[in-house]
Amino acid sequence: GTVPKRPAKEEFGDLVGALPRKQQDGLELRLYQGFWLPEYWVAGTVVFQRRFSPRRDDVILASYPKCGTTWLKALAFATMTRDAYPEPAQHPLLRLNPHDCIPFLDEIFADGQEAKLENLPSPRLMNTHLPYTLLPESVTGADVAGCKVAYICRDPKDMVVSLWHFLQRRQPGLSFVELFEHVCDGDVLVGPTWDHVLSYWHASLARPDRVLFLRYEDLLQDTSKHVRRLAQFMGRPFSAAEVSAGAVEGIVELCSFEKMKGLEVNKKGSSGAYPRDAFFRKGVAGDWVNHMTQDMAARLDEIVREKFRGTGLEA
Ligand code: A3P
Repeated sequence: GTVPKRPAKEEFGDLVGALPRKQQDGLELRLYQGFWLPEYWVAGTVVFQRRFSPRRDDVILASYPKCGTTWLKALAFATMTRDAYPEPAQHPLLRLNPHDCIPFLDEIFADGQEAKLENLPSPRLMNTHLPYTLLPESVTGADVAGCKVAYICRDPKDMVVSLWHFLQRRQPGLSFVELFEHVCDGDVLVGPTWDHVLSYWHASLARPDRVLFLRYEDLLQDTSKHVRRLAQFMGRPFSAAEVSAGAVEGIVELCSFEKMKGLEVNKKGSSGAYPRDAFFRKGVAGDWVNHMTQDMAARLDEIVREKFRGTGLEA
């Protein structure tokens, strides 16, 4: 028989213990390979990096937290599985939260549950909040065939607002100004934020067939256009017949903010450590005006503009 594996927390305890540490915004963070990860993810991340074996047809959905993960998960799931669920009224997304349809790698590995991934039918959809540079070489290596990564980012100002509301669900009284400072300093959950975005931006330029770069604001503006891009990227393009039968619009509708927020399943219970309704707040672009001064906005914009200068990515 096989020797039972030591839990990652024990196996990599020394490595984690030696990393720079910060306790803020109600989170225990460790600086690992240039990013502030929640401490409880780090050992699992090492296991992910060393032992993850991708399949050719895997699709990993990646995002900075609060930038549209839930939406991307819903859209990708509905797109990928559309043949299995032709009957709209019977769709799993009507009774399951998107986070319960697609496994969250960072938590799966943190919890030592990676065996679950082996049991998933192909093509597998999974998601992560890790930056591209922290993904396993088995995913990002130059000679790797298949295993695609679709990334979504968002205006950092709206991200901070969304993150503040979200963290508040477990940390009532969390200071917005302090969280904002941490974002500006880069020492925030999976920050620096701009390094996270740039890691995927550069990868998408270098390997457009393997890394898709999406923006929350673009999706808001023309969801069906980006759902078609996503489908094409995942190797499941919509046929002309599907398009004229309204397949794309059906998915856009099913995954819309109003629809998802209104579902019973998303009003109660939790997915991971957070209540499900915490994933559906306002769903718009520009809510930052209600939470920060023009000076704060200008400051964050300037930091991001400076970091993105010369990369082809606009702040
Ligand atoms: P707001 O807090 O600004 O409303 P994530 O899914 O990465 O945690 O991001 C959450 C943000 O996406 C929240 O932003 C949430 O309201 C928004 N969101 C969730 N589902 C959405 C959907 N179907 N369409 C558009 N936005 C959505």
